[in-house]
Amino acid sequence: MELQKMVVLLLFLHLIFTGFEIVESSAHRHHHHHHHHHNAQSKFFVFGDSYADTGNNRRLASSWKMPYGITFPGKPAGRFSDGRVLTDYLASYVGVKSPVPYRWRKRGNKPTGCGMNFAFGGTGVFDTLTPEPNMTTQIDFLQKLIRDGVYTKHDLSLSIALVSNAGNDYGTYNHHNGTAQGFPAYITSVVNQLTLNLKRIHRLGVRKIAVTTLQPLGCLPQSTFISSYQSCNVSQNLLVSFHNLLLQQGVERLNNSSKDSAFVLLDINSAFTAAFKGQHNLTFSNPLKPCCVGISNQYSCGSVDETGVKKYVVCEDPKSAFFWDTVHPSQQGWLSVYSALQPSLNQLYS
Ligand SMILES: *[C@@H]1O[C@H](CO)[C@@H](O)[C@H](O)[C@H]1NC(C)=O
Ligand SMILES: *[C@@H]1O[C@H](CO)[C@@H](O)[C@H](O)[C@H]1NC(C)=O
Ligand SMILES: *[C@@H]1O[C@H](CO)[C@@H](O)[C@H](O)[C@H]1NC(C)=O
Ligand SMILES: *[C@@H]1O[C@H](CO)[C@@H](O)[C@H](O)[C@H]1NC(C)=O
Ligand SMILES: *[C@@H]1O[C@H](CO)[C@@H](O)[C@H](O)[C@H]1NC(C)=O
Ligand SMILES: *[C@@H]1O[C@H](CO)[C@@H](O)[C@H](O)[C@H]1NC(C)=O
Repeated sequence: MELQKMVVLLLFLHLIFTGFEIVESSAHRHHHHHHHHHNAQSKFFVFGDSYADTGNNRRLASSWKMPYGITFPGKPAGRFSDGRVLTDYLASYVGVKSPVPYRWRKRGNKPTGCGMNFAFGGTGVFDTLTPEPNMTTQIDFLQKLIRDGVYTKHDLSLSIALVSNAGNDYGTYNHHNGTAQGFPAYITSVVNQLTLNLKRIHRLGVRKIAVTTLQPLGCLPQSTFISSYQSCNVSQNLLVSFHNLLLQQGVERLNNSSKDSAFVLLDINSAFTAAFKGQHNLTFSNPLKPCCVGISNQYSCGSVDETGVKKYVVCEDPKSAFFWDTVHPSQQGWLSVYSALQPSLNQLYS
């Protein structure tokens, strides 16, 4: 498709979707069901990036430095937030403890608790700027554990997977000076690879697979700081809409070709957008402004200078901020996203 035609199409879709969103969100405003599905045998597997990582990452050091983790667990422990992230909330929904990060697993072929978290901050479906394992390699880790008998067919038949893809492939594309014209084709290849990954997780025997839509990248503090956190970057969000349109079609196609409709889309994009509009029960005074702000460089949350002086300031009450740092939600932000996701989470048990 010509770029011009596509942009027109995207604009059109964008208008339709935002139109719908307003209606839908007010209808769902007071939906806050909490079904917990306690099953001692449930397994929860997690793949992806920093939106789901609970401690695999060792090289991107910020998640292991103050003030990360101050709300939960009370000190830095590898989460890219002041506290809990999406993984922790979904684990509570599934009725299991937050799964152990792969890096901290017990060695040996003993069954490993309630599942495992294979997500590494900074990664994408393709190789990104971090040396950490891409999503293909993360799935290889699970495959090897299955081959080694750590997880049985029975375990897998009771399992649920979360797959997060929050845009590191696109950051890498920009870093390599990818062109605007090349973006649609690149987005297509990212979503195609993501869809292949979902299919592969299903073939390994996982019962239900939930995949997140891409959040509005143009509303992350890294994009809104130039407007003092007032306005989102519309062109970035248009590209995000294209990613999400392809993903929605890909997941639908997978559902149609699997007998058990195993694939569920978790629309974190709409959940973020609703939070920005104040449509959640948890509201944020300026939802686009992060709690932890770098002083001379917006990325310096967690950095100190040679003499140990902080290069960042932390807001008084992290609960008042949707974003923790320049790209990641705070614990309160994730809680509000989780509560907006409740209607689609029911599909995990349909
Ligand atoms: C993922 O990483 C592995 C190991 O580095 C590499 O061989 C593979 O090509 C990568 N996969 C994708 C889809 O980029
Ligand atoms: C991208 O462009 C910038 C500015 O022209 C240049 O300094 C940089 O080396 C380029 N990066 C790559 C990976 O080509
Ligand atoms: C929006 O993002 C694009 C692509 O990253 C950038 O070129 C443009 O300058 C940004 N627009 C605004 C208003 O910040
Ligand atoms: C896939 O199937 C599940 C279960 O029937 C359904 O809840 C979900 O909406 C479907 N997803 C898509 C994107 O079609
Ligand atoms: C999936 O199946 C439904 C119902 O049969 C159909 O309407 C829809 O177009 C199919 N979607 C895709 C992407 O094939
Ligand atoms: C808002 O929703 C969250 C999560 O669903 C819930 O824990 C909390 O009690 C709700 N708060 C109010 C004030 O309704």
